[in-house]
Amino acid sequence: MKFFIDTANLAQIQEAYDLGVLDGVTTNPSLMAKEGIKGVENQHKHYIDICRLVNGDVSAEVIATDYEGMIREGEELATLNEHIVVKVPCIADGIKAIKYFTSKGIRTNCTLVFSTGQALLAAKAGATYVSPFVGRLDDTCSDGVNLVAHIVGMYRTYHFKTQVLAASIRHTQHIIQCAEAGADVVTCPLDAIKGLLNHPLTDAGLAKFIADYKKING
Ligand code: G3P
Repeated sequence: MKFFIDTANLAQIQEAYDLGVLDGVTTNPSLMAKEGIKGVENQHKHYIDICRLVNGDVSAEVIATDYEGMIREGEELATLNEHIVVKVPCIADGIKAIKYFTSKGIRTNCTLVFSTGQALLAAKAGATYVSPFVGRLDDTCSDGVNLVAHIVGMYRTYHFKTQVLAASIRHTQHIIQCAEAGADVVTCPLDAIKGLLNHPLTDAGLAKFIADYKKING
């Protein structure tokens, strides 16, 4: 299973990378806005900066919602760095754009996926990744992890190559649940990744080991 970090914050990306477990980064327009990156030129520069920090896939999202616009933006994004994966919304023109990008060897991440039907279309179009939004589904009293499990099962049945990238991860337990559901990738906030380390018995055990060592070694 691959770990991506879901942020456009360079310090957080660096911290996750330094932990030694980071395989890539996902961003979206909201995350870019959070960092205050204004203007297309600066945003492209920021994507390049992210690519320089991590040796892995970096999802960069198109803003256009029409086919021609998505193609134009996606082709431009793909030229920024070999690690860029073009993130495309799961709408009709998006599926057509994914099909086009696939035929040109440009890798894609089909985003805003909330159903197995959408995931089926994304895979048929040849998406590299499909991003079911776990947390946002949970917010509507649906079961986001269950969707991840269903997509994984469907892709396995038909041997689709599209990787299931569990997104909209809100907490550490989501990471575990998506891993158990068979997600190929989980993209998470830094705190959720660090939460995997937390266990009071680890802290208590370590404190006792150190105390016992000091008893005999001073
Ligand atoms: O990158 C998309 C995604 O992970 C969004 O997460 O927390 O805004 O639902 P969230």
